[in-house]
Parts: sequence; structure tokens; C-alpha cells
Amino acid sequence: MKNNTIKKTLASAIVTTTLMSGAALAESEPVKIGFLLPYSGTYAALGNAITNGFKLALEQNNNLLGGRDIEFVTIDSQADPSRAPQNMSQLVNSDEVDFVIGPVHSGVAMGMLRVAKQTDAIMIITNAGLNAATNELCGPNIFRTSFSMWQDAYPMGQVAMDRGFEKVVTITWDYSAGQEDVAAFEESFTAAGGEVIEKMFVPFPSTEFQSYLTQIASLNPDAVYTFFAGGGGVAFVRDYAASGLNKNIQLLGSGFVTDGNLEAQGEAAEGILTTLHYSETLNTPENNAFVASYTTSFGNGPDTYAVQGYDAGMMLVQALAQVNGNTEDRDALINALASVELDSPRGPMSFSASHHPIQNIYLREVRDGKHDVVGIAAEQLQVPDTACRM
Ligand code: PHB
Repeated sequence: MKNNTIKKTLASAIVTTTLMSGAALAESEPVKIGFLLPYSGTYAALGNAITNGFKLALEQNNNLLGGRDIEFVTIDSQADPSRAPQNMSQLVNSDEVDFVIGPVHSGVAMGMLRVAKQTDAIMIITNAGLNAATNELCGPNIFRTSFSMWQDAYPMGQVAMDRGFEKVVTITWDYSAGQEDVAAFEESFTAAGGEVIEKMFVPFPSTEFQSYLTQIASLNPDAVYTFFAGGGGVAFVRDYAASGLNKNIQLLGSGFVTDGNLEAQGEAAEGILTTLHYSETLNTPENNAFVASYTTSFGNGPDTYAVQGYDAGMMLVQALAQVNGNTEDRDALINALASVELDSPRGPMSFSASHHPIQNIYLREVRDGKHDVVGIAAEQLQVPDTACRM
């Protein structure tokens, strides 16, 4: 009897020691971060801006997370949904990263989410706007520092009506992000009394816009509402202006069409009205400091994608400080991530129960090659996320 008790006490002492040294060991190892972002193709600039923003946040914190060093593993998603499950599995199962950062493309996110659900990997979506990520496909391990397609597009419907645009043509890429973006615009626009007279869908990532532009000219709507981004956004805005349509038909969009693209679009972008959760011209101490330090580090100013990466980095800085660098206690880590509140360059940002950002949506007009903030189209906007069951 006595012997047994001693043996049990010894056994539990050994187990406790082993567990403690395991955790201590894990905490002395670097935090592993996996990037799954596009570094080639039409979204390459977006992937690079997210990566730069993320690394800047860590640099401002001595490249430490909860006192631990950081190691990066980087995979080029090529914005190709068919490669997403394998790439995600590589990061999670082979590289054993602690956090996955990405992606840009909603279709890539679908494939990643499937693996994240199976493996419980913590994923911070730094762009992809698919509504389902914080609805049907939400989960304790899924976070987003970007937006949903609904969140940035919905406020524009009322703006369009307020400006007297009653008949609108929509044009976008034919994949989930574009479909959801124009659907959200149409939802608020028609509720306010507007009419979408034609919906055009261009195969992704094609930039063959000419036949659509000819058709728009003959339909002669009050305005055109669009979602394109990256290289496709540059091409669309240039072609729209080259066809002369910008002189008579107001171009509206969620802000992706011009974000990060103003330099390449030049004169062609002047006057475009968009809604988005950031503008580089926001005159706040947080944004002014961010713009200055990003520009010093990278030689060009930041865009919305850079902010999304920066805030993902800041989110990890805050959460890992809260758990003292312990990534083993999953519940504590997830609670810490969910409770993050940021004084972001975009303005105040916190997370809903579905782990979606609650943030301002700005109305912006391109003037002199900048996104002037005309007003706040929706303040601290929450997304509809009733399908989310954690
Ligand atoms: C997306 O596929 O979700 C997406 C891509 C580029 C953007 C916005 C959303 O700028």
C-alpha cells in the first residue's frame, strides 16, 4: 500500500517534470510563422505588401513574440485555389508552424480553411474576403484582420443613391470574392431604391475588358460599380479611362480597385469613389506614424494590404505578450487573440464573436493621386455572421 503510494507520487512527479520541461522547451524555441500568400501573378503586390506590413510590426517589437524569437516559412500561393490544401498542409503538418498568415484570394482561403478545420491550425486571414470564413466556416482557430466582401461593399449602395446614381452596371471577376462584393452592393443599393441594370462577370484573372466596356457605353448607366484588384485593377481603371467612359459615367467600387494601384493608374483613377476600411491619408497619430515608418522601411507608402499584415503582426504581439509566449495552452492563446483591440492605422479595431474585425468603412475619392477621405460610410461596422457557430 505504502509502496504503491510512493510509486504513484513518483510517477506523477516524473510526468509533471516532463510536461514542464516540454513547455519550457517549446517556449525557448522560435515562434514559427507560415506565410501562404501570392508572390507571383495578378495579386503579387498584395502578398508583398501584407508580408512587409507584418514584418514591420514585428520589427517594431524587437522581432520577438512573447519574448521568443521568430522563424518564417514562406510559400507562394500563386493565387491558385487548386494548390491551397497541399500548401496549407505543408505548413501545418510538415513545417509545423504555430500560425498561418494568409491568403489574399478567397478561393485559396476555402482550401486552407478545410485543412485548418481538420488540424486546428491557427489561421489569420490577412485579406481574403469570403463571407463564409466568419460565418458557416468560422471556428475558434480562424481569425481575420482584413474585411469581408460584404463589409466593404455594402455601404456603397446608399452612397450611390445619395449621389443620384439610380441605374448601375456592375462588373467584376467571376469568382466568389467578386460575386459576393457586387451582391453586397446590390443588396443595399436596391434596398435604397436603385436598379442594377446589368451584371457583368469576367473570368479570373483575365484583363480582356474591351467588349464589356463597349457594352457599358451602349447601356449608358448613371454609374458603374466594380470589384477588381491588383494588376487587374490597374488594367481595368486604365482601360475604362482610355475608352472615355470616365468622362460621363462615374466609376464606383469597393476600394480594392485603386488600392496600392494609384501610381500605376495615374490620371485614369482621378475621381473614382470607393468604400474601404482604410485610406493612406487618414490623419491620425497612429496612421501618420505607420505611413512614416513603412515608407522609411520599404521606400514606398503603405496600402490597405500592408495595414492588414501590420495588424496581424500587432495582434500576435499583443496576444503572445498576454500569454507570456506560451503557444501550448490553446484555449488561453485563442482567448488572448480574440480579446485583442488595436489602435490600428485604419482606426479602432476589435473582433466580433466570429473573429471578424469591427471597423470603420471610409468613403474615399481619388484626388491628386491619393485616396481623400470624404467621410465615414459606416462607423464600427459589424458584419452579418449569424451562421457562425463556434
Ligand atoms: C479575395 O479573393 O477575397 C480578394 C482578393 C483581392 C482583394 C480583395 C479580396 O483585393
